[in-house]
Amino acid sequence: MSPLLSILVALGLGAQQCLGSASLSDRVIQCLTTADVPQALPGTSEFDKSRSPHNLREQFTPLAVALPTTVSHVQAAVACGRKNGVKVNPRSGGHNYGSHGIGGEDGHLVVDLRFMNDVKVDNCTHIATVGPGAKLGNLALALDAQGKRSIPHGLCPKVGVGGHVLHGGWGYSTHNHGLFLDYLEEVQLVTANSSVVTASATKNPQLFWALRGAGMSFGIATRFKFRTLPQPEEIQLFYIPFIWNLTQAQAGWRAFQDYAASKARPKEMNFRVVISSGSFLGAEGTIFLFEGAYHGSRADYDRVIKPFRDAAIALGGYADMLQYPEVTAVNYMDSLLYANNNALLFGPAGAEPLESGFYKSMLTDKLSGPTVDALMTAVSNAGQTNPSRFWLWIVSAIGGPNSALTTMFPASSTSYSHRSSLLLWELGDTVGTTETYPSDVGIPWTNQFVDLVEKKEGKTLGMYYNYADPSIGDHGKAGRRYWPGNYDRLVALKRAWDGEGVFENPQTVGRR
Ligand SMILES: Cc1cc2nc3c(=O)[nH]c(=O)nc-3n(C[C@H](O)[C@H](O)[C@H](O)COP(=O)(O)OP(=O)(O)OC[C@H]3O[C@@H](n4cnc5c(N)ncnc54)[C@H](O)[C@@H]3O)c2cc1C
Ligand SMILES: *[C@@H]1O[C@H](CO)[C@@H](O)[C@H](O)[C@H]1NC(C)=O
Ligand SMILES: *[C@@H]1O[C@H](CO)[C@@H](O)[C@H](O)[C@H]1NC(C)=O
Ligand SMILES: *[C@@H]1O[C@H](CO)[C@@H](O)[C@H](O)[C@H]1NC(C)=O
Repeated sequence: MSPLLSILVALGLGAQQCLGSASLSDRVIQCLTTADVPQALPGTSEFDKSRSPHNLREQFTPLAVALPTTVSHVQAAVACGRKNGVKVNPRSGGHNYGSHGIGGEDGHLVVDLRFMNDVKVDNCTHIATVGPGAKLGNLALALDAQGKRSIPHGLCPKVGVGGHVLHGGWGYSTHNHGLFLDYLEEVQLVTANSSVVTASATKNPQLFWALRGAGMSFGIATRFKFRTLPQPEEIQLFYIPFIWNLTQAQAGWRAFQDYAASKARPKEMNFRVVISSGSFLGAEGTIFLFEGAYHGSRADYDRVIKPFRDAAIALGGYADMLQYPEVTAVNYMDSLLYANNNALLFGPAGAEPLESGFYKSMLTDKLSGPTVDALMTAVSNAGQTNPSRFWLWIVSAIGGPNSALTTMFPASSTSYSHRSSLLLWELGDTVGTTETYPSDVGIPWTNQFVDLVEKKEGKTLGMYYNYADPSIGDHGKAGRRYWPGNYDRLVALKRAWDGEGVFENPQTVGRR
C-alpha cells in the first residue's frame, strides 16, 4: 500500500481513494498559501531544486515544498502537514544518502530550510547561533570571519548543518575534540503540534539528549547554539599511499588497527584509511591510502606517526605514482579546503560531484585475526567481483583510548550510540551520474562485506545514521542499528513528542 493510501485508510477514508494525490497536494499547497508560507510549486525549478537529492539513486516527489524564512513559517507548515495527514520532513543540505530530507518516499511535505542559514558569533561568549540551512563551508567561513573560531564537523562544504549535527558529524577534529553534536548548547525546535520549544541541558533535557543523535525524529530544528573553539594553529595534512597484494593487505590492516587502538596515538592524530581497487590509478592490487590531519608541529607528527609508518613501509608497496608531498603544513581553513577536495593529491577539484549509488556503514573495534584475513581476501578480489562500478571505503579511526569521544564526553550524554567503537566505516559503491545504479547487484555486493564481518566476529554491528542505509529496513529494524542501547528510550520520547508520527521517513524512530 502506498504511504498516502495507508494514511487515508488509517483515517477511515478508504472509500474516498479517488481523492488521489493531486487533490491532497492541492489542499496542502492551499493551506500553505493561506498561511502565507513561502513555497516552491510543483513544476517550477525551485521545486526541482528542493527535491533534488545528493544521491541520484534515491529520487522522490514531495506533495508540496515549503521554503520558510522564519520560525512562524515553519510552525504553519507543520500545521498544514498535520491537518492533512501528510508526513513532514525538514531538508537542510539534502546530503542524506537515503534522501530522507525529501521524505525517503513519495508524497511528503518537505520543509526546505535553505534560506534559514545565518551564522552569528557572540564576541564575548564565542557562542555561535546557526540556522539549520547553513552549509558546513559557509559555517566555517563565517566562524573564521567572526573571530577565527572553529567547531569540529565534517569535511564536505555542501553538507547541511541541520542533518549533520543532529546525527553525529565527525571530521578531522573529532579525535581530539569530539563530534559536531558535542558542541551543541541549545536547539530551538518546532514540534508536532507546532509549538516552539528550547532544548538544552536545563530545558527539556530528555529531548536535548534525543536530538543529539536522532534529531530528525522529533521535530524541525530552526536554530542551533554551539560552543566554539579557537582554530588550531597548525595542521599536518598527510597522505601515505600503498598498493598492496593480499599478504601485504592482511599485515597492513593489522598495523593500521593496532596503531589506531594504541595509547601511542595521541589525541591530536586524526587518522583514517581510504580503500579502493588499484585499477582506477592504473595499478595492480588494492589501494590503501592512509591519511589524516595531525593537529601540531611537523616534528611532533614525524615522531608520533613513526610506529605505524615504519610498520607499513616495511611491507613494501609504497605507491609513489602520486606527485605530491606526503605531509603538508597548513592552517585550519586550508586544512578543511584541501582535506575535502584532495587538491594536495590531485590538483584543484571542480564542483562537488553528485553521486548515484549505495552507501553502507558499520562500527567496529579491532577485527580479530580470522576476520582480517577473510575480509582482506574479499577486498583483494573486489576488483574482479565488481569490475564495472567504482567502490571506495573510508574507515575512520575516530575512537580509541585517547579519543575525545570517550575521554571528554560520557557515554550516556547523547543518544549517539557509538562512542566506544574504534572504527567508523563508510562503504560506498557508485556509478557515473548519467548511469543507472544497478541496485539488485550493487546492494548485495556491498552488504556481503558487512555480513562477513558480522558472521566472523559473531555480533550485530551498529551503524551510523548520517550514512543512512535504506537496505537495513524501516524504523525499529534500522533504529536498533543506528541507536543500539538507546532505541527503547528514543521510542518513548518519540511517543511523548510526536505520538501521531508527523515527522516520519522510513527510518525515523518508531512509535512502538
Ligand atoms: C559528499 C558527502 C560528504 C560527507 N561527509 C561527511 C563527513 O565528513 N562526516 C560525517 O559525519 N558525515 C558526512 N556525510 C554525511 C552527512 O553528515 C549526512 O548525510 C547528513 O545527514 C547530511 O545533512 P544534510 O542536512 O545535508 O542532509 P538532509 O538530507 O537535508 O537531512 C538529513 C536528515 O536529517 C533531517 N534533518 C535535516 N535538517 C533537519 C532539521 N533542521 N531538523 C530536524 N531534522 C533535520 C532530514 O529530515 C533527514 O532525515 C557526508 C555526506 C556526503 C553526501
Ligand atoms: C567581533 O569581532 C570581530 C572580529 O574579531 C569584529 O570584526 C567585529 O567587529 C566584532 N563585533 C562586535 C559587535 O564587536
Ligand atoms: C606480495 O608482495 C610481497 C612484497 O613484494 C611479496 O613478498 C609477496 O610474496 C607477495 N604476495 C603475494 C600473495 O603475491
Ligand atoms: C504540544 O506538545 C507538547 C509535547 O507533547 C506538550 O507538552 C504541549 O503542551 C503541547 N502544546 C499544545 C499547545 O498543545
